Amino acid sequence: MSGEKDTFFLTTAIYYVNDLPHIGSAYEMVAADVLARWRRLNGDRVHFLTGTDEHGEKIARSAEQRGRTPSEHVDDIVPRWTDVMALLRISYDDFIRTTQPRHTARVQEFMQRLYDRGDIYLDTYRGAYCVSCEAYYGPGDLLDGDLCPVHRRPVEQREQDNYFFRLSKYAPDLLRLYDEHPEFMQPEVRRNEVRSFVEAGLQDVSISRSSFTWGVPVPWDDDHVFYVWFDALLNYVTAVGWGADDEAFARRWPADVHIVGKDIIRPHAVYWPAMLMAAGVALPQQVYAHGFVLVSGEKMGKTNATGIAPAQLVDHFGVDCYRYYFLRELSFGQDGSFSWESMEQRYTTDLANDLGNLANRVLTMVTSYCGGTVPDPAGPPGEAEDALAADWRIAVEGMAAIDRLDFKKALEDLWVLVGGVNRYVEARAPWRLHKQGAGNDLGRCLYTCVDALRTIAVLVSPVMPDAAAALWSKLGLDGAVADQCLPAAAAAGLTPVGATVERGALLFPKLDE
Ligand code: MSP
Repeated sequence: MSGEKDTFFLTTAIYYVNDLPHIGSAYEMVAADVLARWRRLNGDRVHFLTGTDEHGEKIARSAEQRGRTPSEHVDDIVPRWTDVMALLRISYDDFIRTTQPRHTARVQEFMQRLYDRGDIYLDTYRGAYCVSCEAYYGPGDLLDGDLCPVHRRPVEQREQDNYFFRLSKYAPDLLRLYDEHPEFMQPEVRRNEVRSFVEAGLQDVSISRSSFTWGVPVPWDDDHVFYVWFDALLNYVTAVGWGADDEAFARRWPADVHIVGKDIIRPHAVYWPAMLMAAGVALPQQVYAHGFVLVSGEKMGKTNATGIAPAQLVDHFGVDCYRYYFLRELSFGQDGSFSWESMEQRYTTDLANDLGNLANRVLTMVTSYCGGTVPDPAGPPGEAEDALAADWRIAVEGMAAIDRLDFKKALEDLWVLVGGVNRYVEARAPWRLHKQGAGNDLGRCLYTCVDALRTIAVLVSPVMPDAAAALWSKLGLDGAVADQCLPAAAAAGLTPVGATVERGALLFPKLDE
């Protein structure tokens, strides 16, 4: 018996293990992780898949340069990726490696199905090939001097007997997909790009190689392995049980969103849906292509030696700031620049001053004016509370922008509430209420502050899980912030009166010089 879809299933691209993670590749993982945590916080069952793409000529060459077998090389590099994921608090539910038998066996089965259905045939291919991209390019794609458009390095001319997938046959179905389901490829600008590409005429695409052996063997021809992209894309279904566990597969597939970079939209928005159509498997709901992290105007990348390791930034700014900065500073659908200065600025202004100081001030006042326990909100709400309630609504409603992967907007709206509480403290001046002996008003004011901080901790938890947990425990709240459930947990008035707060260390201490 097969089940029904009951799980929000999201994926990142799977990462090449020819090198180590950098802040560009980490950008995508963090964004996907925030979406996964956000959906969990909203009560969804979530399956978050990531992993590594381990086959292909590029990896085999990297291994050779290091004097290792490809298999030794990938086993050596993969832990570097899982370490970075742990450092960045990436809460994946599954990590697939394309060298795992659960993947390779199913790739063979899937491709055999396409072959048996007549969608794969043998032919000779001639063309320009970039090893770094693992891709052939047409003459129109190359830069002056026959350079690869991505790596700006010379391409190689190749002639090979390859198996081809009848991609051209699926052009009408693909165009219909983009037109009838505009949500399939987002943002809009990328959908238009893909649509124009398909409309201009699709060629059949080469799916096998015989010049090296580091890949999944083509089951009907020992001389060939699958071209790495056709092996890699299938990770999205092999990992959730396609061909192995029908019930598990039905509960997760189709994927809700594949989060990928804008450099890999053709495989994801053209090849992938066509392969699924050919096999008679349902299509993912959405492919979302994010922009690049640029450093000094260039795409951050391992091959151009501008790689900054996430650990360098985490050491200095902490993991919460790391996650916050990239999603608040850059617009996810567009390219955006990293700079040390802008990160320092965000740390100091948004985190240390706006949020950290606010928490510290409130906790200090509860400690010295109320004996360290959350006071009774005895006084009636007034104008100041009404103004704050409006900011509260903006934050709660604004966070839903995460569902559109608009992290920047979500955080801007959440910071409306952070700013609102700061203004509220200034307007109500609890130190004056204390001096005046206005006990009821003081209780109302400090209760409101603590209660707002509780809501902020819940809402910010997908983005800054450690800081949210620390704030939650400072506020003396029961349970774990990650176990709260929206929308209920964002309502005002849920903080228990009498909870014992703990000022403790600053959430965002002053940065080292
Ligand atoms: N292995 C393929 C993907 C196969 S998915 C079936 C691949 N790997 S990659 O390691 O080169 O890139 C992995 C992801 O990281 C891609 O989505 C890519 O866009 C992203 N990024 C790599 N550098 C990046 C930046 N500088 N900025 C943002 N994302 C970038 O492609």
